[in-house]
Parts: sequence; structure tokens; C-alpha cells
Amino acid sequence: MEFLEFVDVLNKQLTSDSFLAGTISQPRLRSNEVQRIKLKKIEIQNELIIQFEYQLEHTMYHKNLPFVEAQKELTEQLNHFRQVHFDHTTYASQAQISKKFKVLYKTKDHPAPKEINFTHNRQKQYILKEDTIHPFLVELGVQTKDGKIRAAKHAKFKQINRFIEMVEDTFPHLPTDRPIRIIDFGSGKSYLTFALYHYLVEIKKRDVRITGLDLKKEVIEHCENIARKLNYEQLNFQIGDISDYEEEAVDMVITLHACDVATDLALARAVHWPA
Ligand SMILES: C[S@@+](CC[C@H](N)C(=O)[O-])C[C@H]1O[C@@H](n2cnc3c(N)ncnc32)[C@H](O)[C@@H]1O
Repeated sequence: MEFLEFVDVLNKQLTSDSFLAGTISQPRLRSNEVQRIKLKKIEIQNELIIQFEYQLEHTMYHKNLPFVEAQKELTEQLNHFRQVHFDHTTYASQAQISKKFKVLYKTKDHPAPKEINFTHNRQKQYILKEDTIHPFLVELGVQTKDGKIRAAKHAKFKQINRFIEMVEDTFPHLPTDRPIRIIDFGSGKSYLTFALYHYLVEIKKRDVRITGLDLKKEVIEHCENIARKLNYEQLNFQIGDISDYEEEAVDMVITLHACDVATDLALARAVHWPA
């Protein structure tokens, strides 16, 4: 197939009812910053659009484009890549583009039609927005300085958001007449500790005192430095063992992936307070 004809075919497919998702890969030039582009039809505020996810070596970013813009972007990007795969409800199309822009194009029917369910693809509304620079996420290496989520940290970003959602559910049980006292046992690199502080203090404007406790001196010093740099005044980090930790009353205990018997020790403390 001629390249121009192929571009035309793909543009029609992209905006057809049957299109679900696609991948554009194999950059023509090694110097191409974008390694791969994933496309997905999604519904945002009752409108169907195409989401382009650009995967670079260490980062990724998204563009949500209405159909006409999406076709322009697809046309442009097809000049820079050599492999395309589109998935539709009833079939898949696959193309290999040669150095000289000759296209080997084929389609294959699915054994059974795939269900269209764009609510499935509906974009997740994270509490921490993906397109906003969060200084604590930059300091922790989850986001780059210009706010892109590092590819290797995408799962961590999702986990942090899910964790904040869970904390949201505990809101009715937290005191309103005094500072909320929170301990993170085995805080380690403290992604969740910082996220919790950011959420409660900077978003919810609550008065909190949070302490991260860990056996490891280096992580505690590192996290303490970041907390001071961010002016997170009511967040501090202490070296210590959960089993020796003494305090009169605590409202919330968090402990994630605490190794060995640390989870049991943390639960015992939490029950004792009762947090
Ligand atoms: C797998 S890391 C998890 C770190 C962090 N909570 C997270 O989810 O990213 C477990 C941490 O628990 C700490 N830890 C294990 N036993 C502990 C204890 N008895 N007292 C304090 N910290 C402990 C370790 O030093 C380590 O940093």
C-alpha cells in the first residue's frame, strides 16, 4: 500500500466507531525522543476523544485531542515511526512501514467482537492531578521539574493517589478540635508520608503533626532534609524502633510494606492507643 493511502486509511479508522486503542512504535531515527505512542479512545465529560500517551526513555506525557486534532497528530507522527497496531471492536490492523515508506498492511478479525465500554477507559480523576507540579513529588523523584511523571514512577504515583483516597474515607473519624496526630511506622522513603501531609495540610487545610519513624539513619536524614526544604513544618522524621516508641495518644497509624514483624508491632501500637 502507498504511504499516503495508508495514512488516509488509518485516519478514518482512528475516528471510526469501532476504534478502541493503538500503538505506534519503532522510531525511524535513534534521535527521536519519543520511543512509542499509545492511543486510546476515552470519554471525558461526555465527549469521546483520543488520548495520546508519549513514552520517552525516562518519562511519559499525555495529550487529549478531539478527533480532528487527533487526525492531524496521527498524520504527523506516522512520518516518524515504522510500526503501527490498531485495535478495533471486530478486528485489528497492523502495519510495517519500510525505510522508503512502503507499507505492509494487514488486518485480522477477532474471534468474537470486543465490547465497547468507554466508561472502562474513562480517565481516572486522581486526587493529585497529573498535569500539576507538586513540589514534594519533584523532591521525591516521582515528577520531573517540569511536572512530568517519570515512567519508572508511574505505579508509585497511582499508589500514592489510591492511598490518599483511602485516607479520605477516614476523614469523619479524625479530630477537628485539636491537631491530628499521625505516625508512619517504617516510613522508609516516605512517599506516602509526604503525600499525606500535602493532602491534609495543603489541600484540606487541617492542623496535623506527622512523624515518620524508621530504623535507617540515611533515609531519616534524607526525608528530614526534604521536609525542611519544603517548609513542611509539622512533619518530622525520627530514627527509632517501633517496639520502643512511646507516646500518649495517636489518632492515625500508617505502615506500608513494613518488613518482618514490623507490621505486627505497628498494629499492636495502634490498637493500644487506640488510633
Ligand atoms: C519495605 S520498607 C517500606 C517503606 C515505606 N513505608 C514505603 O511503603 O515506601 C520497610 C521499612 O520499614 C523499616 N522497619 C522495619 N522494621 C522496623 C522497626 N522495627 N522499626 C522501625 N522501622 C522498621 C525498614 O527500615 C524499612 O525502611
